[in-house]
Amino acid sequence: MAAAGSAVGLGNIWKFPYVAGENGGGAFLVVYLLCVLLFGMPLLMTEFMIGKRSGKSAHGAFRALSGNSRWQWLSWLCMLTAFVIMGFYFVVTGWCFNYLVEAVMNSFSGLGTQELTAHFDTIQSSKPRMILFGIVPVLLTAGVLWFDVNKGIERLSKILMPLLLGLMLLMAGVVLMIDGSSAGMRFFFRFDMAQITPRVVMEAMGQCFFSLSIGMGALITYGSYMPKGQNVIATSVQVIVLDTLVALMAGVIIFPAVFAFGFDPAEGPQLVFVVLPAIFEKMTLPWLSSVLFFALLCIAAITSTISLMEVVVAFICEASANNKRPLHRRQAVLITSALVIVLLVTCVFVPEVFNYSDLVSSCVMMPLGALGTAVFVGWILSRKKGKAVQPNESWIKCWSRKFYLFVLRFIVPLAILLIVLNGLGIL
Ligand code: TRP
Repeated sequence: MAAAGSAVGLGNIWKFPYVAGENGGGAFLVVYLLCVLLFGMPLLMTEFMIGKRSGKSAHGAFRALSGNSRWQWLSWLCMLTAFVIMGFYFVVTGWCFNYLVEAVMNSFSGLGTQELTAHFDTIQSSKPRMILFGIVPVLLTAGVLWFDVNKGIERLSKILMPLLLGLMLLMAGVVLMIDGSSAGMRFFFRFDMAQITPRVVMEAMGQCFFSLSIGMGALITYGSYMPKGQNVIATSVQVIVLDTLVALMAGVIIFPAVFAFGFDPAEGPQLVFVVLPAIFEKMTLPWLSSVLFFALLCIAAITSTISLMEVVVAFICEASANNKRPLHRRQAVLITSALVIVLLVTCVFVPEVFNYSDLVSSCVMMPLGALGTAVFVGWILSRKKGKAVQPNESWIKCWSRKFYLFVLRFIVPLAILLIVLNGLGIL
């Protein structure tokens, strides 16, 4: 559940619809689902396994398993990626908090399509406001790590995740009843081969990494908490199914509404924020449903930011463990929060930094992290430790282990290289 909480977040509800909308809807969806199968499944299993076997987070795990520090750079990459993501992730979480407050105050009731778009721009243009709303989730996340109340949050999200899913189901039902919404379903589900460009493939792969939280060691930490008997494969399947379900549902809510109300599917990062308020207007209890939805969205975002910040905090603690004066967890939380606030302010003031950190983290840094992880386990560890490399103790069937290793050694690294180089126009 904790891993699902890390996976389900703004990536599913905010990023998925907007990236799919920019990249041709149905074509993107098909490539995305293929990426989830091809990269998501083996890499999720691999990260969990690294954590479970070593009992450590990325920094300690690569050293413990390889027996030397040659793979330490990979944990540095993971840590840097977490930073780059946090910069813009907290900005968007700030938007969510801003919309929650506005939902409580009923400020967007009665606004039309154009007014909602203009409303977003107005909020956006107040930089102090954006910074303030961005700092709130940073402090909340830091607070959770400071007081070590992760467990409580996990228990909470066990109740709130199903609630979010239920509410989304209801919203989908309402949206699909609106006249003109079927065009949105066609956009989201119609596969058009001509739409698939190298760029679309790269963005779909990046979205897969981002949404499943893979390629930056976040799930290594979660794997390290797994009890011995836990089934890595079953856990991976559960996380993937839940994460994909939420993303699909977001698409089924957003795109029909986009077409019914006359928005532009390629609107960009503000897409869901301008479309959602229009949907609540059509619901039976508009105030309650919008407040509830934005509250749940904020919580889903926070469970993800916790896992992001944890990557950096665990890195600082493990990397300084051999120093004369190792840093305490709380010191690490302070340092990380301060740096994240600096990044957040930069993202608010320089829109290019916001856009590029999103693209570079998903389409370059996480793929690189995933490539490193696959090579580390597939080529280094499996030679050294032989049979120890299998995600599951009870996984004795030889062919399944061979298949897993084959995918990890050849398919994953080659596909990542090909897709990134092609997507960036280098090939
Ligand atoms: N997966 C999260 C989302 O969809 C974002 C996220 C949280 C993440 N932790 C991560 C992404 C670690 C990559 C790595 O919103």
